[in-house]
Amino acid sequence: MELAHRMTALTGDGSDGWDVFYKARALKKQGHPIIELTIGEHDIRTHMDILAAMGRSARGGHTGYAAVPGTEGLRTAISQRIEQQSGVPTTQDNILITPGGQSALFAAHMAVLNPGDIALYCDPYYATYPGTIRGTGALDRAIQCDPAYDFQPQATDLETAARGARSLLVNSPNNPTGVVYDRATWEAIAQTCIANDLWLISDEVYDTQVWQGAHISPRSLNGMQERTLVIGSMSKSHAMTGSRIGWICGPVGVIEHLTNFATHTTYGVPGFIQDAAQFALSQGKALEDEVAAPFRRRRRIALDLIAQQNLLRAVPCSGAMYLMLDIRATGLSGEAFAHALLDAHQIAVMPGESFGQAAAGHIRVAMTVADDRFIKALTDLLSFAAEFEENKRRF
Ligand SMILES: Cc1ncc(COP(=O)(O)O)c(C=O)c1O
Repeated sequence: MELAHRMTALTGDGSDGWDVFYKARALKKQGHPIIELTIGEHDIRTHMDILAAMGRSARGGHTGYAAVPGTEGLRTAISQRIEQQSGVPTTQDNILITPGGQSALFAAHMAVLNPGDIALYCDPYYATYPGTIRGTGALDRAIQCDPAYDFQPQATDLETAARGARSLLVNSPNNPTGVVYDRATWEAIAQTCIANDLWLISDEVYDTQVWQGAHISPRSLNGMQERTLVIGSMSKSHAMTGSRIGWICGPVGVIEHLTNFATHTTYGVPGFIQDAAQFALSQGKALEDEVAAPFRRRRRIALDLIAQQNLLRAVPCSGAMYLMLDIRATGLSGEAFAHALLDAHQIAVMPGESFGQAAAGHIRVAMTVADDRFIKALTDLLSFAAEFEENKRRF
């Protein structure tokens, strides 16, 4: 029996940049002491107080169907947080609660794309982006972002890609690059969207992890409120990846349609998870800072170590839990470097090639292991690159 094209075409770019990840996982399973600096998962677990709130809610009976758009309490808490951060008047009617940011990304694209429409996203990209777009029946088109501009999309490239397109997906703070878009980039994005009548889908799941500069939500820019859908999540901000809780913030009319879509897909998110998320948000910035602190600390450690050599260049790491290193000076591809590093030192990193074409010759280092292991891994990684370069020059 033949499956729908929508399913079979979801992935399968032919990129094998993830080979090294699967190899590392297999080695780890066999008992090898692999240091995994690969996926965006915290090395801490969800805070016990959040779990206590979850338990209280479940034991108190909040285990039945929850309202499809989400509980009033959580939607209000999220709308207040968004209004406070962005200055844009926001109410619970602008919010749909979803099972994580990923399902919010899919629902948002379903809301604005017809089959055959062109949907844009920036390369390097979070691994699911092309498949998320293809799942709607639309055509995914990447905008190449040049490392020479720290992977920030440029106005001319945006403008060229936008002709005939229907939506643009952007992500800042960015996974995989760790770059935070500056105001000029946002102005160019907004101008392109307005001039070409594009929907903007702004993935802001790393909005609490900003180390340098400031997070700007494009919904706050002139003329953008009615065409922007913001994707949020508790995964990264509160170490709640396994709770699967996120949201879409957008115009009331769009949220009404998305609520109807949720009725026919997820039928809502468990009430006790939503109550736990509401409790987590009630702890304010203090808890968000506590969850972000290890990454802020390790980013400082990494920049100090990198400053002691001049072979590998760090892409400005202004946000998120990743460090992107330019390894082109070694003459290796990101993939070859990652395989060789795993073989030589049992350290697993992600090749830039697993995030598209634009990050070829780079590697992504997730800052997701304890400080002492992180320091050792990065020190070994840097001396591995230096040795490789030294051998290359000798022979
Ligand atoms: C850029 C980006 N967007 C969305 C997600 C999905 O997050 P979740 O579904 O856990 O909220 C991730 C997860 O790593 C991500 O890195």
